[in-house]
Amino acid sequence: MFVMYTMDLTGKVAIVTGGANGIGKAIVEALLDCGAKVAVADKIDAPANAAANVLYIATDVSKSDQVDNMVKHVIDHFGRLDILVNNAGISTMDYFVDIKENDWDKTMDVNAKGVYLCMQAAANALKQQGEGGKIINISSQAGKNGYRLMGSYVASKHAVLGMTKVAALELAKDKINVNAVCPGIVETDMKRTERTIGGELRKVNAEAIELEDNSQVPLGRTGVPQDIANVVIFLASTYSDYMTGQGVNVTGGMTM
Ligand code: NAI
Repeated sequence: MFVMYTMDLTGKVAIVTGGANGIGKAIVEALLDCGAKVAVADKIDAPANAAANVLYIATDVSKSDQVDNMVKHVIDHFGRLDILVNNAGISTMDYFVDIKENDWDKTMDVNAKGVYLCMQAAANALKQQGEGGKIINISSQAGKNGYRLMGSYVASKHAVLGMTKVAALELAKDKINVNAVCPGIVETDMKRTERTIGGELRKVNAEAIELEDNSQVPLGRTGVPQDIANVVIFLASTYSDYMTGQGVNVTGGMTM
């Protein structure tokens, strides 16, 4: 049997939450390269010169009315929906005993509730369309391991993997694949953030607070957003049709 391998997503419509920056932006560019039409749902405003196959929708993923409007707007504009990438996320940091209730709520609202709301709204649209679909949730290696100073983030990313498994089971009969990607340390604004922790200003690393160099990454470098986009494209394509409920580590070997 002769098979031509291409990641062709022509005719597909995708939503990428948090698609204005960092990993999300790389995912948007990769989906466009593969021929998909893409809706970028982010809190940040659209750039002035957006391309025709890109739709920007100002969305806070933690607000159900905005999420419902996001899905409706995409279907009104592009006529269908095939792929949802839940990428929007934030990180807050403190020692577990010092976590502020407000920081906990903020983190869970965006990272966990946002994924629940977007998955629910998109899954209902995909079921109604009746042609299957792909849901890809960006969790983290913090969805599988504990990291000091990251209590609320670790809890939220574990929640993403839990939801991924339940939705995968329930949506399998509708041919909707639900998988997660668990990145390691990726060069984005999130990673470079400076935070005051215990009264001291520190340059923090969102995924591994103790990592001072790349020596803990078996492949010898930190990730770039494209490393994550490559795996998202695979999960958005027909090549992953026999995968569901998985949390795929993309960590340069840090998490196995
Ligand atoms: P980033 O901070 O560079 O970009 C996040 C984007 O999400 C921004 O455009 C922001 O405006 C948007 N956003 C934030 N809150 C939102 C909300 N309520 N509604 C809609 N959009 C919102 O972050 P980065 O690094 O690109 O992270 C993307 C995802 O990857 C996150 O879920 C993060 O937890 C995850 N991740 C990142 C890692 C890293 O080392 N950078 C490692 C593992 C996972």
